[in-house]
Amino acid sequence: HRHLLGIEGLTAAELTTLLDMADEAVAVSRQVEKKRATLRGRTQINLFFEPSTRTQSSFEIAGKRLGADVMNMSVASSSVKKGETLIDTAMTLNAMRPDIIVVRHAQAGAVQLLSQKVACSVVNAGDGAHEHPTQALLDALTIRRNKGRIEGLIVAVCGDILHSRVARSNILALQCLGARVRCVAPTTLLPPAIERFGVEAHTDMKSGLKDADIIMMLRLQRERMSGSFIPSSKEYFRYWGLDEEKLAFARPDALVMHPGPMNRGVEISSEVADGGRSLIREQVEMGVAVRMAVLEAVAQHLPDY
Ligand code: CP
Repeated sequence: HRHLLGIEGLTAAELTTLLDMADEAVAVSRQVEKKRATLRGRTQINLFFEPSTRTQSSFEIAGKRLGADVMNMSVASSSVKKGETLIDTAMTLNAMRPDIIVVRHAQAGAVQLLSQKVACSVVNAGDGAHEHPTQALLDALTIRRNKGRIEGLIVAVCGDILHSRVARSNILALQCLGARVRCVAPTTLLPPAIERFGVEAHTDMKSGLKDADIIMMLRLQRERMSGSFIPSSKEYFRYWGLDEEKLAFARPDALVMHPGPMNRGVEISSEVADGGRSLIREQVEMGVAVRMAVLEAVAQHLPDY
């Protein structure tokens, strides 16, 4: 595929190939000399209309590790602030002949729209509540490396599923790779008819975490909420926050994940986030490797100018 717009539409074989490539990128990244020439001469633009720490920096490091020239477009000081549209911004950057544009945008569907207007490859770094495919890939890689497999595992995705592109991409990727996915959240934060995605829905942590191999906590996305349900942090943590007490509902060897950024004391306690069963730091390392794999994969479809 020339673009990576979402997990939707990818086969289990394609996902597995990307994870295998990412495993190799982990090995490269752990060497003293990390630089490769796969993307030498290529130009990568990171175009982030929403804030990011992990995704933007890891795409930059990944591109540089593969030898690309990487430019981080500073949207805050760009002509977007003067009213330039998404498409005009994309066409302007396209005229500079980039090979890959990595895009994050607050609107679901914006990245796909942009991909139709430019000549280069486009990679989705998160679009509204739609998809965040590289997050799902790095989560799958982290799980596979720690559990040795994905097929047959019970993964409990907990928290603000309604507003979460991470949840959506993870549900698609993990089910495609054979995991059983549960969504655990208050009713108000579960998308309507969530069962149509083939997941089990739970509204209490005790039943939701029972026998779980992996617990994936999500951030409460207050910026995407409007009035209807904004719980107090204290109340949310009491019923839905992962602490040692609730972690005991899961399997004794269950591992804990969080895509970041974390709200400590809201969806997860510091004790659990920093504890021996947390994979949160490893997820960040896998983020660079997965993005190297994705950049390499889309680069295979770039024309030789
Ligand atoms: N997980 C994630 O997408 O983090 P950032 O928003 O910091 O990129």
